[in-house]
Amino acid sequence: MADIAHGLEGINVTATKLCRIDGLKGELVYSGYDIFDLAEHSTFEEVAFLLWNQRLPARSELEALDKTLKSERELGDVVNQILTELYPVVRPMRTLEVAVEILGAQDRNSSDLTNPGLRQTAARLTAKMATVIATYHRLRTGQPVLAPRSDLNHASNFLYMLTGQVPGDLEARIFDVALILHAEHEMNASTFSAIVTASTLSDMYSAIASAIGTLKGPLHGGANEAVFHTLEAIKEEQNIPSYVEAMLSRGERVMGIGHRVYKTTDPRAIILERLGRQLADQSPNRKWFDLSQKLRDYLARKLEGKPLYPNVDFFSASVYQMLNIPADLYTPIFALSRITGWTAHLLEQYGDNRLVRPNAVYEGAESRQYVTVDQR
Ligand SMILES: CC(C)(COP(=O)(O)OP(=O)(O)OC[C@H]1O[C@@H](n2cnc3c(N)ncnc32)[C@H](O)[C@@H]1OP(=O)(O)O)[C@@H](O)C(=O)NCCC(=O)NCCS
Repeated sequence: MADIAHGLEGINVTATKLCRIDGLKGELVYSGYDIFDLAEHSTFEEVAFLLWNQRLPARSELEALDKTLKSERELGDVVNQILTELYPVVRPMRTLEVAVEILGAQDRNSSDLTNPGLRQTAARLTAKMATVIATYHRLRTGQPVLAPRSDLNHASNFLYMLTGQVPGDLEARIFDVALILHAEHEMNASTFSAIVTASTLSDMYSAIASAIGTLKGPLHGGANEAVFHTLEAIKEEQNIPSYVEAMLSRGERVMGIGHRVYKTTDPRAIILERLGRQLADQSPNRKWFDLSQKLRDYLARKLEGKPLYPNVDFFSASVYQMLNIPADLYTPIFALSRITGWTAHLLEQYGDNRLVRPNAVYEGAESRQYVTVDQR
């Protein structure tokens, strides 16, 4: 029988200058910069520039990008109106997917696949997707929708539009770092999905809508929300063994654990745990973070010898809890960050496009005689 690369594991589908992962060493590098350095020194805006240009910006370039992003934050009447129709019935990830397609429908240049046109769309989506999620949340909680503030950076402005409070320095910085950590991750499922769509020369909006739909699943971006529901179900440290045993005996997976590429702890989980420790010291809501650490310790013993370690989603759930972000916004927040990586890959793809069209090995019936419906 012909070989099948189940789940495309181990297959190189393209070359990229954006990101390198060493899954055995636990290394994640964006265009030559280690994720630990970026988390320590950089900002989300700077990382967006890095991904779109494969170099860090000069101050003037960073200021120009900041200005562009700020100028693109408003949604306009049509999207706002559609959000008021969607929020009572549609969950946030699908809302984001629909809103991206509406933004594409409104953009008369949506089919402009030149490099400058694509860069404009990338900045537009990066700015507006944050406003979509904040607006959606304000509407569903019956709170007034807040206009974006041009004196705040991307991370702080999002938290402000979401909660109505300008975040403190620590919260703002931790959220900014969370955005940096989620910005890019080589050929993950949602990036691949975006690339497949773009490879037909469909536009960037549709490629991003495909990516959002792919990120939504619990084996990918949806895992961070699922981690929180696991923590809620466990409730107390003493319930960890029985809960995990029951889950594993049913053949279920522990969310936030395991990764296709990392066979050691995901470096982003290490950074998020550190951030979580800083937040926990001043948070009245540290319970879920403490429980995450206990669960991690238990799983390390239980799964010893298997290449199953915490991934990025494991600690992001409790960190976002301490930032008072509701659980169903964790995956949308992943998208608000990953939009930079997705669009950076799309710049590469449109710049050197070839239709993505693999094969399937046929295993079905052969040589059947057609029989009309009244004779079956
Ligand atoms: C991410 C993930 C889909 C990668 O899986 P994969 O590379 O396809 O690995 P496989 O599905 O081939 O699993 C390999 C083995 O590990 C087990 N395994 C993988 N993840 C597991 C988990 N989270 N909990 C328990 N067992 C797990 C599988 O059951 C399988 O066991 P088996 O060989 O005895 O059948 C998987 O680890 C997973 O489902 N994790 C939970 C969801 C999650 O956190 N996703 C976010 C990723 S950033």
